[in-house]
Formats: sequence, structure tokens, C-alpha cells
Amino acid sequence: MTLDDRARAALREQVALLAADQLGAADAAALLARVDRRLDDVADALALVYGDAAADLLAGVFEDVVAAVAARPADLRRLDRRREDEPDWHLREDQIGYVCYADRFAGTLANVAKRLDHLEELGVTYLHLMPLLRPRPEPNDGGYAVADFRGVDPALGDVDDLEQLTAALRARGMSLCLDLVLNHTAREHAWARRARAGDPDYRDYYLVFDDRTLPDAYERTLPEVFPDTAPGNFTWEPALDAWVWTTFHEWQWDLNHANPRVFAEMLDVILFLANRGVEVLRLDAAPFLWKRLGTDCQNQPEAHALLQAFRGLSAMAAPALLFKAEAIVPPDQLVQYLGRHDRFRPECELAYHNQLMVQTWSALATREARLATQALARLPAPPQGTTWATFVRSHDDIGWAIADADARAVGLDPRLHRRFLADFYAGRHPGSFARGALFQENALTGDARTSGSAASLSGIEQGLDLGDPVLLDQGIRRLLLAHAIAFAFPGIPLLWMGDELALRNDPSYLQDPAHAHDNRWLHRPLMDWEAAARRDDPGTVEGRVFGGLRHLAAVRRRLPALHAGGETHVLWTDQAAVLAWLRIAPGRGRLLGLANVADTERSVDDRVLGEAGLRDPVDALAPHGRFSHHGGRVHLPRLGALWLVAT
Ligand code: GLC
Repeated sequence: MTLDDRARAALREQVALLAADQLGAADAAALLARVDRRLDDVADALALVYGDAAADLLAGVFEDVVAAVAARPADLRRLDRRREDEPDWHLREDQIGYVCYADRFAGTLANVAKRLDHLEELGVTYLHLMPLLRPRPEPNDGGYAVADFRGVDPALGDVDDLEQLTAALRARGMSLCLDLVLNHTAREHAWARRARAGDPDYRDYYLVFDDRTLPDAYERTLPEVFPDTAPGNFTWEPALDAWVWTTFHEWQWDLNHANPRVFAEMLDVILFLANRGVEVLRLDAAPFLWKRLGTDCQNQPEAHALLQAFRGLSAMAAPALLFKAEAIVPPDQLVQYLGRHDRFRPECELAYHNQLMVQTWSALATREARLATQALARLPAPPQGTTWATFVRSHDDIGWAIADADARAVGLDPRLHRRFLADFYAGRHPGSFARGALFQENALTGDARTSGSAASLSGIEQGLDLGDPVLLDQGIRRLLLAHAIAFAFPGIPLLWMGDELALRNDPSYLQDPAHAHDNRWLHRPLMDWEAAARRDDPGTVEGRVFGGLRHLAAVRRRLPALHAGGETHVLWTDQAAVLAWLRIAPGRGRLLGLANVADTERSVDDRVLGEAGLRDPVDALAPHGRFSHHGGRVHLPRLGALWLVAT
């Protein structure tokens, strides 16, 4: 449905009337301007998904959009103005993120507000609190099984606490990011309860099958997310007397996004959260929204269209709200979530740079950056106005997303290399420095993923256990090196809670029956505030790591070349152990990043400086900018990074 002029005028007229009724003249005019800008994108997207039903849906949701504008608190409208004036705020070099579970970090939402100094020391401007909407009772996948999108987990506080926290964050220039689980609800959500009670309208909110015919047909091409602990993608539900689609766990019911009522409901949830002061929504499991027989049911065109429609409509109501895609998909399919299609369509402003994380750990294990160079060099660039969320660790496992073609291009067997990485990081390989664990080993395919905290994966745990100062030093350098890469690639670097203090694996999850089956809890420790008290003591592990990260953050904020509005080129050098990348931010300068993943000193031909367009640069990370450059070569310390910029 590209809207014809008459339909367009009618919708516009409808919005104008609603706005005249509910908004002041200035707000109404601003809303209409946003509607004009976004209407075609939204209409196209909804037509792709819902066909003829799109026009009615659109007329209905416009009422919600206008109501949300009318209800938007004054300080959030001011924020909207600010963001419209400064649409590149999320691209800026001074953005730094921190990610944690509210309860594991501080206990409650109110207590999170009391711990913001800790974040400020690290230069944090963006706080992602892990799922905090009311979940089903445990097990609930760390909150990713939501029973009420409009309520807060009572163990953490209530919606007032959430509003107070977002206000406290805003006052410090910090933005709150929350998860929105669009793909599924808990089996205990009111919609699912009504479905189970026999209400056919709500049954149609989910993907329900009377017998195994279709589930079996889908299973032929569906992968399994948790093959170990939640095999299969469908669960028998006695109350429905039917099979229900459950991509993740049996108590996470996939929503039926082919039903326009589900779209309208989820849009309402988005607007509700935006009006509580949430500034970024992390769209959980975004690739899974649309199912198509004969495919892996990920990355379908309709999934993108749904995101575009949510994007356009919520931008009309709450311009300050950004979307971040959680799309852990092959590199070729990733930039679509940032809106790169045949023609650009606004979708998400941020997406996780999973490839950078995977390639960094792969390079550290092999002490070679050739595969990383190969893979990162061919990754399509994010469209204008969008960027990555870069990270070293997260709450999830590491899936070894090494593309076959990349591995082969540098002479590696893709399957063997992926398995090598899983074994290496599980500490099963001779010479491994890591103390992680296998996650969801798939006996059928031989695939395995990795759990473990950054400090345990990087060798810090091993160094401490063996009491070996050399190994410990290497572990600390590795952890800082990985962050020196993440902090200087384009995007908002996200620190995973505890990594700033080198917190090691926490095996206590095994004592908790709700967690014991899921070893991702190994790297979801409780915040250790005693360890935090040592953060300023450079004689301690915590002090070295915290000090190193604080330094990276402080340097990053002062480097306009790290604004993410420019270009990034990954460069080949004559040194296999060095990852080299060039950032060019037009009008703001250039930065050449060099990272040596080997345990010994290495050098690169200094022609790379000419290639980067840098004459006589300085190392922004080093005291007085000094670095070692002689004999036609740039020398890098073992497991060290340089951020070279013009003087
Ligand atoms: C996302 C989350 C993961 C969760 C899954 C299901 O991938 O990051 O932790 O298990 O979605 O909601």
C-alpha cells in the first residue's frame, strides 16, 4: 500500500483532528510534521505485513500515537526537542555504556540510583538494565519471560521507581536502555492466560497448532536455540490442547505477529515505556519475529517491516526514543537491522557488533589477527545516522559466528576453527589461558558456544589460580586490549558489569535450582563492592583493570575522530598479529588503531601511517603521546594497543 493521495490526506486529517482535540497548537504542528516525514515508510511496512488490513490498523494506532503525545511528560518533550536538535547524540565519542542486572548490581531500582557515581567514574552515559519488567516466577531466562510489560518486577520496585530512576539518570546525562521482548511473552502473561482459558481472540495472539503436521514441517528447517536444555521449537500445552510455538524455552510463547492486534498491543507497550523515560529499547530476539515455512524463520522481510513500522510510529510519538537491535545473525544479514535495504528505511539506530566481539576473542586465542581483518574488512558499513553497540562480553554466551568464507579465505577450516574456539575458551586446549565452559554443546552438529566472564576467558583467573605473575599480567593486558578495540571501533562501547573489576566466573549458580541448568549464569555474578573499593589501588588486579578502562574512557571522550558518523577501514599490514583499523570522521580527524594480539612485542611497516594519512602521529593512549617508531617500523608492546592521531 503506497498510500494514494486521498488515503494519505485522510489519515493526515484524522491525526490533525485528534491532535487539535488533545494537544496544544505547537505540539500538534510538530506531530504533524513528524507524521508527514514517516507516514509513507510506516504505511509501506504495514502493507507488506498485513495487506489490506493495514489501513484499519493504521487508523487505530494513530489514536494511540496522539494519546501518547498528549500524555508525554514535559521534561521528556524537552528531551525530544534536544534530540531533534542533536540527532547524532548516539554517535558521539563521549558515549559509553554499562550493562547490568539491577538486582545483581544494586538490589533494587532505588538503589541503582545510589550507585551512579561508580558509573560516572567510568564516563558512562548509557545504562542498559537487564530485563526488569514483571517476569513469570523463576525460571524466567533472566527476565526474558515477561508476564506484564506494564509492571516492574516487584523485587526491584515499581513503575514510580522506574520513572524516578530515569529522571535521576537524565539529570546526570545518562540514558536508560531497557529490553523489549517483542518475540514472545511468558506463558503466564495475561494474554496467554486468556488463551489458555479458551478465549479464541487471545489464542490468536500466539502460534498454536492442533497437531504436529505444521510443527514437523517447520522443524525440518528450524535451528534450535537451546538444543541442550530446550530442544525443539514447539511445546504441547494441555490447556490449549495444542502445540504452541516456543523458540526459546517452553514457557516463552512466540507471539503471532501476523495478527494486527498483536502489533497494536506491542506499539502501546513501546509508547508506555517511552513515556516512563526509557530512551533506548533493546529489541530482544528481533530476527525471530516472522515465521516462514521452509526457512530458518529468522531475518524474514516481514520482521524488518515490523521493526520499521514500530520505528516510524514510535518516532512520531516519542522522537527521543532509539531502537537497538539484538540481532545475533551472520554479518551479511546484520546491517539490514540498521535500515540498509534496497533503499534505506529507518529501522534501528543501533545494533550489536557481534562480529567484532567474536573476532576479538578468536584473535586473542590464535594470537593472529588475519581472520579478524578478513571478516571485519568486508562487513558492510552502518547507514548514516546509525552505528554499533560494541562489546567484549555480555550476559549471553559467545556463539562462534565465524563465516565459512572468511575462515577459508585465511586458510582455516571453518568447522574446526569454531570448535577450536569453543574448546580453547573452555580450557580444554593445551596452552589455553581461558577458564570458561561449553554452552549448549550440540551432539548432532558438534557445535558449541562459550560461557565465562571476560576475566576468566582472558587469562586473569588462570594467572591468579596458578599464582603466576606473568600469566596474570598477560590476562590483564588481554582484557584491556579487547576493550581498547571495542572502545575505538565505531559505536557505543558497552561494559558488562563486573568486567571493570575483572570479576571471575561465579559458579554459585549451580546451587540455585532456577539457574543451575543454564551456565550463562557463570558470567552473571553479583557486583562485588569490596572489590570495587580497591579500584584506585594500582597494585591490585581491580585497580589495574578499572584504571585501564577509566583511562580508555577518558581518552575516548576527547577524540573527535571517534565520532561514529564517519568511515571505518580495516587495513592489512605485514604483521599477522596486528589488527589495524582507520577511523575517518569528516571534519573531526582520523585515528589509526593498532592492536597486537601476540604475547610478545611486534612491529608493523610504517607505511601504514601514510596509508592512514597520518604524518608524525601521537599515541592518544600513551603518556605524552609517545610510541616506538624506528627502523621504518611501528613497534607495539605485547598485547598492547595504539590509538594514533594527528598531533
Ligand atoms: C536474547 C537474550 C537471551 C535470551 C533470548 C530469549 O537472545 O539476549 O538472553 O535467552 O533472547 O529471550
